[in-house]
Amino acid sequence: MMLQTRPLHPLFGVEVIGVDVRRVAADVFTALVGAFNEHSVLLFRGQRVDDAEQVAFSRRFGPLEATIRTVVSHQGYLPEISNLANVDAEDRMIPAGDKRIAFNAGNQMWHTDSSFKRVPALASLLSGREVPPEGGETEFASMRVAYERLPDATRRLLEGRVAIHSFEYSRGLVGQGLLSPEHAAQVPPVPQALVRANPVHGRKAFFVASHACEIVGMPTEAARALLRDLLDRATAPGLVYTHRWQPGDLVMWDNRCVLHRGRPWDVGRYRRVMHRTTVAGDGPTAPDVAGIAVAPAREADRAWCRAQLTAAGVPAAVLQ
Ligand code: OGA
Ligand code: MN
Repeated sequence: MMLQTRPLHPLFGVEVIGVDVRRVAADVFTALVGAFNEHSVLLFRGQRVDDAEQVAFSRRFGPLEATIRTVVSHQGYLPEISNLANVDAEDRMIPAGDKRIAFNAGNQMWHTDSSFKRVPALASLLSGREVPPEGGETEFASMRVAYERLPDATRRLLEGRVAIHSFEYSRGLVGQGLLSPEHAAQVPPVPQALVRANPVHGRKAFFVASHACEIVGMPTEAARALLRDLLDRATAPGLVYTHRWQPGDLVMWDNRCVLHRGRPWDVGRYRRVMHRTTVAGDGPTAPDVAGIAVAPAREADRAWCRAQLTAAGVPAAVLQ
């Protein structure tokens, strides 16, 4: 079965043409899995799915993650739906100064979904139900492409290493108090392999994110400098695919090897209704690490975060 595709970017990502995700025959589905492993980002246009249909399609790729219920903006939806919208379950617009908007601004830092969970996500599927006329793009960058461009010495340095990812750390960079103690307790820091190979074709990628904050056996400052360097390499101009949303777009990405971030938009003015389903990974990427310690964010870490968000156009008012 040959899929009809068109590249999104010269280095990764394709649009899949002529597929209605509500009706995918078994042979087409097998081809989609192949395309996912090969291209890392798949775009399906014109998919007017509701939450149940999105869940049904997503589940064909594997069991879905349930969202963390203490995240207020997710309340009122199916347990498999993450609400990335600036409207709540009652369809009311969330006011611009609301904590939930600042919380979601964390998604405007480069990350890969659920890398702060012991078993990180395999794939995310984001459905654009209502999209703003300007801003609100989602950007993607390939850690596989970037890995393949690394100097050999850096690849050797990364091999076999384990990084620590912490949601409390990354949200703490955006603003203090965005995470309730109850929520923070649900997401303790976790170890993740720093290099991951795709199990189908063996191509490697490094695995970092805004949540990555330590490397086991390395001093904090050196680790953070290396992690930032890897993020910068992956997201260098020319390596980034910027997705400009049309209503009905469904974008699926491979969290094992792709970074993404949302871009700001005028949240007080335009509705942006995006629902995400998340396919769970099939196991931990690294063995347990005893006594994980995360050094608190330093001023340099926070400044880096602010610089990233400010450069992305996040209004200073959102940042604390
Ligand atoms: C996500 C995410 C960014 C966006 O869906 O996981 O980070 O553009 N989204 O909304
Ligand atoms: Mn995300």
